[in-house]
Amino acid sequence: MEILGIDIGGSGIKGALVNAETGEMLTERFRIPTPKSKKPKAMAKVVAQIVEHFNYKGPVGCGFPSIVKNGVCLSAGNLHKSWVGVNIDELFTEYTGHEFTVLNDADAAGYASMNYGVGKGKNGLVIMITIGTGLGSGAFLNGVLIPNFELGQIPYKKHTKIESWAAASAKERENLSYDKWGKRFNKFLQLVELIVSPDLIIVGGGTSKDWEEFSHHIDIETQVVKAELMNHAGIIGAAVACLREQHHGHLQ
Ligand code: BGC
Repeated sequence: MEILGIDIGGSGIKGALVNAETGEMLTERFRIPTPKSKKPKAMAKVVAQIVEHFNYKGPVGCGFPSIVKNGVCLSAGNLHKSWVGVNIDELFTEYTGHEFTVLNDADAAGYASMNYGVGKGKNGLVIMITIGTGLGSGAFLNGVLIPNFELGQIPYKKHTKIESWAAASAKERENLSYDKWGKRFNKFLQLVELIVSPDLIIVGGGTSKDWEEFSHHIDIETQVVKAELMNHAGIIGAAVACLREQHHGHLQ
């Protein structure tokens, strides 16, 4: 089944048509920068532009960069604080006329990796980490998603959340080399390992395309691999989640 997958991030909103049964992307990715205000209505308008671009009729799967429970945004993440409490499903349906399945963006990326990528068939606790404006995390126990893991929110030194210090946005803001930033990312992974004892960590998100530049700084006991679907995983996973909801009425 062909489904439109949308991945909403702090810097870009991206979409593509996906074969949600095979995980294959059927079109080029279409990207529009996230509006500077990062407010609900402005972002909903961009989502509508993406849907129009594909001239698409069916339900839409959408990864969203915050805690999402039953379609409602429960934290602002790196977006405007007025998102908290907004029913994202309803807002996007209002602006597009399409049915939406909305889930956390890292959970969506994890879905893609667990179904079609390096996570396929992996048991135990698998953690997907996405590196972008924030540090996203998706947790899968024996292939089943435990939604809304927020490992990027761990406080670290003077920072209220470690992602302010170790995400790609920190690298950019402080103009850090991959060497300097790679050590920070490794510190984050050390904390993840200490807190949840995973069996496998998969690293995705925009920055994972530069894996060769920083992976030599990763030094923990847990196996850490690159998500080969890279920054397409969010789009593909959102479409897969939407298909599951269509079939089962819920995400699992
Ligand atoms: C949010 C997460 C999100 C991550 C990546 C964080 O700021 O709290 O929910 O997954 O950014 O977008």
